[in-house]
Amino acid sequence: MKLAQTPVHEILLDDHCVFVKRDDLLHPEFSGNKARKFAYFLENEFEGGKTLVGYGSAQANSLYSMSALAKIKGWKLRFYVDHIGSYLVENPIGNYRAALENGAKIINLSQCEDRNNRDSLTYLQQCVLTGDSEQLFIPEGGRCLYAEHGVRQLAIEIIQWKRQQGLSALSVFLPSGTGTTALFLQKSFVELDPNISVYTCAVVGGDEYLSKQFSELAPNTAYHPVILPSRKRYHFGKLYSEFFKIWRQLKETGIEFELLYDPLGWIVLLDYLTENSGEKILYIHQGGLLGNQSMLPRYKRKFGE
Ligand SMILES: Cc1ncc(COP(=O)(O)O)c(C=O)c1O
Repeated sequence: MKLAQTPVHEILLDDHCVFVKRDDLLHPEFSGNKARKFAYFLENEFEGGKTLVGYGSAQANSLYSMSALAKIKGWKLRFYVDHIGSYLVENPIGNYRAALENGAKIINLSQCEDRNNRDSLTYLQQCVLTGDSEQLFIPEGGRCLYAEHGVRQLAIEIIQWKRQQGLSALSVFLPSGTGTTALFLQKSFVELDPNISVYTCAVVGGDEYLSKQFSELAPNTAYHPVILPSRKRYHFGKLYSEFFKIWRQLKETGIEFELLYDPLGWIVLLDYLTENSGEKILYIHQGGLLGNQSMLPRYKRKFGE
């Protein structure tokens, strides 16, 4: 299984040349930033059988990646979701379907009689996580210190590529959810090659929320990536015509991106590049393409082909 050393391709968008680190090509079952964030679990041996425990949305990339990890390791996965739409249950698609095929047990909390209005995390803490060494809990979106191990490997690959290219400085850009990937990248560059800086934007929640997430993972602000502003406030998971437009424009370069994080990432990056044209940028393609199976039909229904 190829889980490192992805290629870098160059694309031209709105007259800007941007390098793209193709982490979407890592492995069809285990790609993008989840492969990096979960590499620690893949590469290390653990005693006894394990049950991975996670939570998040029924279409989360992390649900699928955790199911792939469990399958590869011969573990079980119990994934808790706040609710599942009946349409999805009757017509499984995308990450949800692939996770089921990998043997994931997906528990719909809205149907649990003992839920008592508790949010998913509180329910897990109070009713599921027993402290049993068989259970391996992975917080939402893989936001945990274990993620540093695999993200550092990504940083090392980028440093090697920068040297091969003979670049004296480089800016790395990637859109953030929990900010885990961006933060551990910046931390690695501060420690291994300070001529590389990480830029990101907040896709889930606002800039302040993202800063807070950074601080929780690493209080030292030198390790925090620069958050580039978005010209407009977008709601995570909602469909916007400008997102679909840039996604299609990107597709013409020959690379397919995903539809939740990448459109805003590219909008913010292009705004930055109009002020900073010529800067050498490496955009991290963080995978997640399976999610397009459900997002693309929604976009087409709303905005046409
Ligand atoms: C495709 C994709 N891009 C970006 C992100 C955001 O990553 P992070 O939560 O590490 O900021 C995710 C979520 O993990 C993702 O699946």
